[in-house]
This record gives sequence, structure tokens and C-alpha cells, in this order.
Amino acid sequence: MKHLIDPMDLGVEEINDILDLADDIIAHREKYSTACKGKKLATLFFEPSTRTRLSFEAAMMELGGNVLGFSDANSSSSTKGESVGDTIRIVSYYADIIAMRHPKEGAPMLAAAKALVPIINAGDGGHNHPTQTLTDLMTIRREKGRLSDLTIGFCGDLKFGRTVHSLIKAMSRYENIRFILISPEELQIPDYIRTEVFDKKGISYRQVSSMDDVMPELDILYMTRVQKERFFNEADYIRLKDTYILDCKKLKKAKPDLSILHPLPRVNEISTEVDDDPRACYFTQAHNGKFVRMALIMTMLA
Ligand code: CP
Repeated sequence: MKHLIDPMDLGVEEINDILDLADDIIAHREKYSTACKGKKLATLFFEPSTRTRLSFEAAMMELGGNVLGFSDANSSSSTKGESVGDTIRIVSYYADIIAMRHPKEGAPMLAAAKALVPIINAGDGGHNHPTQTLTDLMTIRREKGRLSDLTIGFCGDLKFGRTVHSLIKAMSRYENIRFILISPEELQIPDYIRTEVFDKKGISYRQVSSMDDVMPELDILYMTRVQKERFFNEADYIRLKDTYILDCKKLKKAKPDLSILHPLPRVNEISTEVDDDPRACYFTQAHNGKFVRMALIMTMLA
């Protein structure tokens, strides 16, 4: 039994296979309509979500399977003091695979130790979000035709943004990726990403505070929301939340084939006028999330 807790739980070849399967699902939807008939997915969301939970549920339905679960921890027995371990063990009796999101970093790993079925980490605190990473890789591959030889700029909250941490780890395995980290000093990437990923692998990266200065270099611009829910102090959030706002004027300096990604939800960091720019990929990216989760569920249940 294999769990997906960290993006590095999947090898490069396994990722390629999942992305190939997702592409095939898009091309031949009907072929997969009963692929998970008789199987059940539980979605246990101890933290809010729109895309991840609903795309997981839509994915399982499109595969002919069924879904159960909760979208609010307050409607579960965790409010009575039940541990994550006990919750997971019980849900293992009712479902064939579990996708869980939890505000505590490491909770899905703890759950995996108690689970009787495969666990998928659907986001743990500011740590990891491996299925968003699959979504991001799928989008980059479909937009660019490759996952190597790219300059990618991560912009915004690089400290708390779990999608950034997971995607940096995953992209560090491809050839000739140039990382440009655009953030205010307070929201720079955590030290463990610096030491465990960049330093350990000898990957060079640049940390800058100006989006404008690096815009002409970028093949991918990965925008992120400042993660209000992870701040200890509201004044800091208010001071930092609008540091970067991408608009059409800023994009004048960008390459004509730039791809703009964002895991969503967005707040102010991408002006809605950018939505009509052909370089905006973030809604397609969210759509891809359903297909790549279909491919992942099929793979993990195989
Ligand atoms: N990208 C993402 O994780 O979105 P949700 O929080 O809506 O699931």
C-alpha cells in the first residue's frame, strides 16, 4: 500500500505515468467512466477547500466511484476529542482511499501510520500539497511541452505557501531549472527548503524583492496568495498582503509565451484584467486538477 504524503513520494517516472494517464483521460473521457466502479473515496477536510475537495470528489464520480466524508471538522467527532489516528482507522473501514487536509503539518503522515487504506495528503498546514504539485506539473507540461529548461519565478508568500514548497521540491529533479524567488524578506522560503533542496542538490537560485526586474526572464510565473490563516499577527498580514499585484501593465515586460500559474484562491495578487490575457493559465490549471486527481486515484487503487 502506497501513500502520497510528500511530492517526493513519487518518482519522476511515476509522475510521468500519472501525467500521461491524465492526458489520456482528457482525450478519452468515456473510456474511464467505470474505472473505479464499486470503490469509495473519503474526503476528510479539517480545513477549508474549494478546488481540492471538489475536484477529488468530481474525479471519483467521473471514474464511476462513490464519495463520502466531511468538509468541516466541526461536523466530525474530532470536536469531541477524537484523534486523527482513530478517525483515520475508522474511515479505513468505510472507504478504499482517503484524501485528507489538515491545518497541522505532519498530520497526514501520522494518519498514514494508522491507515488501512492509501492516504493522500490534500494539504497539511504550510508544509506540502502534493496533488497541487501534480496539477502544476501537468499544467506546465501541457503549456510548455516540457518540465526541464525553464526559468520559473515564485512570487508572494513563499514562507507559508505549501504549494510553493512542494513544487520547488518536485521541480528540483528536472534538468536546467532556474529558480527565482520573489518575495518580501519576511515571506522568504523556509530554511529547510534552502538547505534540503537547493544547497543539498547544488541548485542555484536567486532571491529578489522586485517582480518587475525579473519579469522579462520568466517562462513561468507562479503567483501565490499571502496566507492570512497562517499569520500570528493581523497587522503583519495587512502590511504584506498587497506587496505584489500582477496587472496588464506589469505583463508588458513579460515574454509573449509566459505561463502565469496560481494555485488559487486568489485575493488581490492578480488583477482580474489579467484573466483575459492568453498567458493566464490558472483557471485551466484548476481544471487540470480534476483530471490529474482521476489519474492519481486510478494509480493508487490499481
Ligand atoms: N489550490 C487549492 O488547494 O485550493 P483549495 O484550497 O480551494 O482546495
